[in-house]
Amino acid sequence: PLVSMRQLLDHAAENGYGIPAFNVNNLEQVQAIMEAAKEVDSPVIMQGSAGARNYAGEPFLRHLIQAAVEQYPEIPIVMHQDHGASPAVCQRSIRSGFTSVMMDGSLEADGKTPASYEYNARVTGEVVKFAHAVGVTVEGELGCLGSLEGGAGEKEDGHGAEGELSMDQLLTDPEEAAQFVKDTHVDALAVAIGTSHGAYKFTSKPTGEVLRIDRIKEIHERIPDTHLVMHGSSSVPQEWLDIINEHGGEIPETYGVPVEEIQNGIKSGVRKVNVDTDIRLAMTGAARKHLAENKANFDPRKFMIEARKAAKQICMDRYQQFGSAGQA
Ligand code: G3H
Ligand code: 13P
Ligand code: NA
Ligand code: ZN
Repeated sequence: PLVSMRQLLDHAAENGYGIPAFNVNNLEQVQAIMEAAKEVDSPVIMQGSAGARNYAGEPFLRHLIQAAVEQYPEIPIVMHQDHGASPAVCQRSIRSGFTSVMMDGSLEADGKTPASYEYNARVTGEVVKFAHAVGVTVEGELGCLGSLEGGAGEKEDGHGAEGELSMDQLLTDPEEAAQFVKDTHVDALAVAIGTSHGAYKFTSKPTGEVLRIDRIKEIHERIPDTHLVMHGSSSVPQEWLDIINEHGGEIPETYGVPVEEIQNGIKSGVRKVNVDTDIRLAMTGAARKHLAENKANFDPRKFMIEARKAAKQICMDRYQQFGSAGQA
């Protein structure tokens, strides 16, 4: 059934595990996530970004997730709106049936300018008021993910969290996090610890200096009842980069967040782990390989089957690695 995010994350906290939150924008991703969840008995968080709504259209996105609920009635599923840029966006998602919304007030409504604390606390608190009134969970964000260029922390130039502001100014401050939770009453908080969205997070395997997992513990100690969320948590598997590049792709050397570091984060209080890029890389690699090896094929189902298989394996791995397998 559709369940509330709060309920799932509370259970994860009581039992010390993390749940991957997968971004979706098409049929095959939803199918892969569900087939994997069924196989390893995991609860599911599927989330739609503004980009996903643009791509699929809101009704298709919503009905794809609702089709999963119908086909897998035994699996708890959260339908979460990722990175809402304003209270109005969150309001619309709640009206259309999302059981959880993220108000990302870390950037102003333009999605680019870093917001003041006051702006962030005001818009997030506003969303909490109308969301909680109807039992919807709210995720907020404090700190800046990755660099400020390109909006929503997304960065495509191959560097990690560097930019106009120093690394330390971008990270979530534990004291400010405590104040933010007091001011807004969010259920979950996305923290900035050196990750960024997309495939280009780090130019070499990240050390503790650029990937600040240590921050998570400091934040968790101050707000133990707020579920911490890691964004930009794709691991960027080298195997998939190789497969893409061996079949006509050109992706430069790049590194993601090692699974062991996410596991350390989960030990320190992370409950929701956002993963989008790894599914994209696996689907692209599998599709490229199939098309390169089957040059006469013109049936999209043939390469989508391979892409879906690859996505399913990523999902099964993450359910197991984050500890949500066996918890549905
Ligand atoms: O928020 C980050 C997700 O990876 C969404 O990406 O805007 O391309 O759908 P997108
Ligand atoms: P990745 O790009 O690392 O998969 O992160 C996705 C994310 O944080 C969506 O909100
Ligand atoms: Na989110
Ligand atoms: Zn994100």
